[in-house]
Amino acid sequence: MSPRRGGRRRGGVTAGPTRERIDPVRYLSNDSSGTMGCAIAEAAAARGDDVTLIAGPVSLPTPKGVRRVDIESARELQAALREAFRECDALFMAAAVCDFRPRRRFRGKWRKKEAGQERASLELVSNPDILSSVTRRKGDRLVVGFAVETGDGLRRAMNKLEKKRMDYVVLNGPSALNASKTSVTILGKDGSQRRLTDRTKRAVAKVLVGLSAPHEAR
Ligand code: CTP
Repeated sequence: MSPRRGGRRRGGVTAGPTRERIDPVRYLSNDSSGTMGCAIAEAAAARGDDVTLIAGPVSLPTPKGVRRVDIESARELQAALREAFRECDALFMAAAVCDFRPRRRFRGKWRKKEAGQERASLELVSNPDILSSVTRRKGDRLVVGFAVETGDGLRRAMNKLEKKRMDYVVLNGPSALNASKTSVTILGKDGSQRRLTDRTKRAVAKVLVGLSAPHEAR
């Protein structure tokens, strides 16, 4: 890593969904609006960070003072993040990455009905785990990831924290997607837990950008 630019922390933030193309007019995606990631980018810029926002297809404006890179698919996100990660001191991985993509992308429209078929299947292949791929070279960067879980997700979120080499994981439920308010639990690799209930995403973002790397749990 090169030295910080003018002493400012360099932050990487990912936001929004990915889109995995089936054909020129169809895709697989999810309900993420990008609100959380954009709020983090805004809060980080407001505290003086030099921020790069890597955004999936979202209809939100770019926060003031933030550099934005637009991506569509998980593989595009991975390529953009690899670049940005090299230069950053802190990563906030709020993107809702599609776990799978169609094995092939049809050049023309995917027409199954014409052949009289009432059922069709689409073969999917898994996308790379982007966060794990970049944190192989984590160094002393602060890494904050997210986990959307149904039911009691504490154990699953803790597993993700460890497996993906995060410092903190922000656990929330599916109702957080595309909503303005959210309730989250921030779990640290030092075993810390902080619950924020029914807060705006802006309020949660302010807390997240104020985090610093915890010490390893003994
Ligand atoms: N993530 C990623 N690459 C993927 C999937 C997820 O980098 N292919 C990141 C997300 O941005 C998030 C964290 O990993 O910060 C956890 O995402 P989540 O979807 O909860 O986890 P998955 O590994 O996809 O596991 P699950 O099977 O529960 O969906």
